[in-house]
This record gives sequence, structure tokens and C-alpha cells, in this order.
Amino acid sequence: MMQTRAAVLYEAGKPIVIEEITLDAPRQGEILVRMEAAGVCHSDLHVRDGSLPEPMPIVLGHEGAGVIAEVGPGVTGFEVGDRVVLTWVPSCGQCYFCQRGQTHLCTTAGAMGMQGTLRDGTSRMHLGDKNLHHFLAVSCFSEYVVVPQEGAAKIPADVPTEVAAVLGCAVLTGVGAVERTAGVRPGESVAVIGCGGVGLNVIQAANLSGAYPIIAIDINPEKLKLAQSFGASHTINSREQEALREVRRITQLGVDWAFEVLGNPRTIEQAWSLIRAGGTAVVVGLAPRTSTITLPAFEFIIEKSIRGCFYGSSRFQADVPALLKRIQAGRMRVEGMVSHTVPLDELETAFERMRRGDGARTIIRF
Ligand code: APR
Ligand code: ZN
Ligand code: ZN
Repeated sequence: MMQTRAAVLYEAGKPIVIEEITLDAPRQGEILVRMEAAGVCHSDLHVRDGSLPEPMPIVLGHEGAGVIAEVGPGVTGFEVGDRVVLTWVPSCGQCYFCQRGQTHLCTTAGAMGMQGTLRDGTSRMHLGDKNLHHFLAVSCFSEYVVVPQEGAAKIPADVPTEVAAVLGCAVLTGVGAVERTAGVRPGESVAVIGCGGVGLNVIQAANLSGAYPIIAIDINPEKLKLAQSFGASHTINSREQEALREVRRITQLGVDWAFEVLGNPRTIEQAWSLIRAGGTAVVVGLAPRTSTITLPAFEFIIEKSIRGCFYGSSRFQADVPALLKRIQAGRMRVEGMVSHTVPLDELETAFERMRRGDGARTIIRF
């Protein structure tokens, strides 16, 4: 048992409080990680602001990297001192989905996420006699975390901190959406709605897949500049221009692929409107739990489709080393995705900046 500093959300809509909490030792198959850095993702903000209901109180954070400080009983393949990146889908390897190679849909990991606990249904985090919930079995807005060993992948010591911090969600989700969920082919046309931390990775991966044109759509000119630097060939400020008209002007027929990377029912409908006959809208963004969309059903006759995307359909254990190789070989870029680095105490400022759409990703440096 130890004391650690963690960001506690008591109630959606209320500010986060940095607390000194009690953290239990890792149990069977779990590891204790000293966090080095954690990325602030829009999904954290969804919970903070109430559009994604989670059991409270909870310690948020689901993207980050650190160093193993202790291994629990039965842990294999990890040692104290190993540097790891964390995942919010610690897949079990046993369930229906894991057995079919769809590890990102793992039911065990899904259940942990719903309950806000670790695998045995209990929490390692306490404040006085109150249990704190784990967020997606990660809760890395905390100096130390206890996670299942399946929730970690080893990374080399020389990976830059800002790369390690955003790899586990923004990079995996964005790149996976293009390469695994969609399978974009050279010469296909792509539109990306929402050019934040995840969207920039969609743009970069689309570019690496040989897609053209790559049309970035956002309401913030600063994000559109970033989008260009990550490979967008065209940009549309949808606050000032009519996105559909512009996409038609560029592509005539509409795009082969429209990625929605925001989680807004209206922009999901917009993604549908942008695709050509036979095209596909890929929904990467996390929409509010009770929201619905309306689509013109008649358009199914021209073979338009819409596809969900969870965690970029990625296979964490295989994809992390592969992505790192590409980044280290200079074939993929992460610099520029992180615009701000702040201490844990400034998490609320980071959320505020994200609401304003100011800057790219913020990382917490411990
Ligand atoms: N149209 C287009 N872009 C918009 C709009 C809009 N109506 N409203 C906001 N945006 C842009 C913002 O300007 C910002 O650039 O969407 C982007 C969202 O980026 P981030 O806030 O950085 O979000 P990110 O962390 O990338 O997550 C995006 O993926 O994992 C999910 O839950 C996450 O649903 C969220 C989505
Ligand atoms: Zn995320
Ligand atoms: Zn599983």
C-alpha cells in the first residue's frame, strides 16, 4: 500500500480535485507503474463534462507511459524498471473476440471499463474509506497506477516522452482507423472531420496510405494548419465554408472515406453526406451515450455505408512495436501533435484549452 497524488473527479460537471490517495499493491497479474507522462484525450473531457457517464468518484486518464515500479504475483514478461505504454483495452486473450483476433472488442476489458474496476471487480484506489473507480483500467492522471499486465506493452528507453505519452490512444486510434478499420488504398479520397489529437493521426495515416485528396475539416484555423503539416492536401473551415459544397468542388462525386473524429451526431451525419456512392463513413469519435443520428435511408441504394470504429480496431500488443519502429525510422511523425506540457495540477487548464479547441494535445508530465 502507498500514497500517491491523483486527479479525482467526484461528479461530472464539477472541477477535478488533486488528492493524496491510497493505492494498494498490485494483485495477481497486475503491475504498479510510476507514470512518466499522460496525454489528455477528448474522452476524458467527455467524462469530466458528463456526456460519457462513468461510475463516480473516478480517476480519469487513459493514455500514457511510465516505468514499472512493482510486479504482482503471477506476472510474466515484465520486470521492475521496464518502460511501458498503457492501453485502455487490456484484452484477455480468451474471449470470443480475442480468439478471433479482434482484441480491441475484448469483452473482459469492456466489462472492466463499465464497472470502473480491475479484473477481479475491485478497486486499488481509495480515499479514506471510499473506493475510487478506475477509468478503463488505466486511470493514469495519477503519479502511480496499478493496471493489469495485459494493459501494458514494453517500449525502448530511448522513445521520447511525448511519443510514449500519446501512443496508447491518439496514435493507435487514428492510425488504426485508417489502416485497420477502413483499409484506405492508394489514390482513394479521404475527408477528416475534427483535426484534434486523434484526427491528425488519421490524416497522417491516410497520407502514408497514398490517399489523395485528403480533405481536413475543422472549425479552428489553427487545427487546419496543423492538419496541413500532417498531410492534408485541402482544408475546409466548416464554420465559414459549406463543407459539402467544398468537398464536391474538390472531388465532384464525394469522398471514398469520411472519418468523423469528434463524436458529434451532427458531424456523423455530415460525414455521411460527404461520401460518394459506394463510399464509407467511419465513425471514430465517441458520441454521447444517448444521442441518435438520422440518415437518408434511400441512399443505401447507392451502396453508401457507415462503419463504427473502436480504438482504431487496433491490436495493441502488435501495433505498439510496429508503430514505434515507423516513428523511430522517421516514417511517422509525432512532434507537433503535443502542443502543451503541464504538471498534474493544471489538468483543469488543459480541459479548458481542449474545450476552446486551443492547441493540439496536452500532456501531463509527472
Ligand atoms: N466540425 C468540425 N470540427 C470540429 C467541430 C465541428 N463542428 N467542433 C469541434 N471540432 C474540432 C475541434 O476544433 C478539434 O480540433 O474537433 C477537434 C476535436 O479534437 P480534440 O478535442 O483534440 O479531440 P480528440 O482527443 O482528437 O478526440 C476526438 O475521438 O477518441 C475520441 O472521445 C474522443 O470523441 C473524441 C474524438
Ligand atoms: Zn483517448
Ligand atoms: Zn478478450
